[in-house]
Amino acid sequence: MLSVPELAKRYAFPDSLTSPWVRTCFVSSIDGAATDASGLSGDFGGDDDSTIFHVLRSLADVIVVGAGTARAEGYGPVLPSEIHQDLRRELGLAPLPPIAIVSGRLDVPERLIASGQILITSAHSDPARRAELAATMDVIVAGSQAIDWPEALRQLAERGLLRIQCEGGPRLHGDLIAADVVDELCVNFAAVLAGGPAPRIAHGPNASAHAMRLADTIVGDGLLATRWIRDTTS
Ligand SMILES: NC(=O)c1ccc[n+]([C@@H]2O[C@H](COP(=O)([O-])OP(=O)(O)OC[C@H]3O[C@@H](n4cnc5c(N)ncnc54)[C@H](OP(=O)(O)O)[C@@H]3O)[C@@H](O)[C@H]2O)c1
Repeated sequence: MLSVPELAKRYAFPDSLTSPWVRTCFVSSIDGAATDASGLSGDFGGDDDSTIFHVLRSLADVIVVGAGTARAEGYGPVLPSEIHQDLRRELGLAPLPPIAIVSGRLDVPERLIASGQILITSAHSDPARRAELAATMDVIVAGSQAIDWPEALRQLAERGLLRIQCEGGPRLHGDLIAADVVDELCVNFAAVLAGGPAPRIAHGPNASAHAMRLADTIVGDGLLATRWIRDTTS
């Protein structure tokens, strides 16, 4: 695998961003499964996937995650050991990126109910529970019935959070695709055929088609890392 500084260059966010850039990140089997037999994605990609994942986290202003993934994968606030602090210092980023959990039911894992962590929801969620969480977390309310993504991204930008890394899961990814706010997808294909009932990396009620172009590929140990960027030519 490439060195951390080389990976940081290859995965750099665009320079001088003035509006949010949404990068979604996934690991998938080559036959499109987003989870392994355990129902989680953790060990799918092996060491090279983890190396890339930690570099990607190190480059982000904020990590957006769906509540389903946060609950299934046991999310807590990002730890200093999970990022490259020297890289963040060099890039002038805050020491740690907050987690922004997306939830309608406001069933937030205990560890994420912590100062500096963000909740993204709509006005349709329970106001009493929202107020309770707002005593500790930074709560973004965007949209009346469902989350209005351009508005949620605007509120993240207001906080200076422009480099947005979304770590899934499939339902949240499907919503972001439907809202046409995905600028970049980083998907690592693990050299395994998974079969089975696993979901794929995006899921939603309505199909849509947004053209992307291949921006980069990196061959790792049992892994093909790919980076796709919104195709603005068509
Ligand atoms: N392969 C990979 O790279 C990868 C990455 C991430 C996750 N996964 C796997 O995917 C599985 C979870 O899948 P999932 O589709 O359930 O995950 P998800 O999108 O993380 O979670 C769905 C939940 O998130 C909340 N949510 C998402 N979008 C929302 C929206 N627009 N508005 C309001 N709430 C929203 C809702 O939470 P409430 O119920 O709280 O309202 C919803 O029930 C796990 O097994 C995980 O391991 C795989």
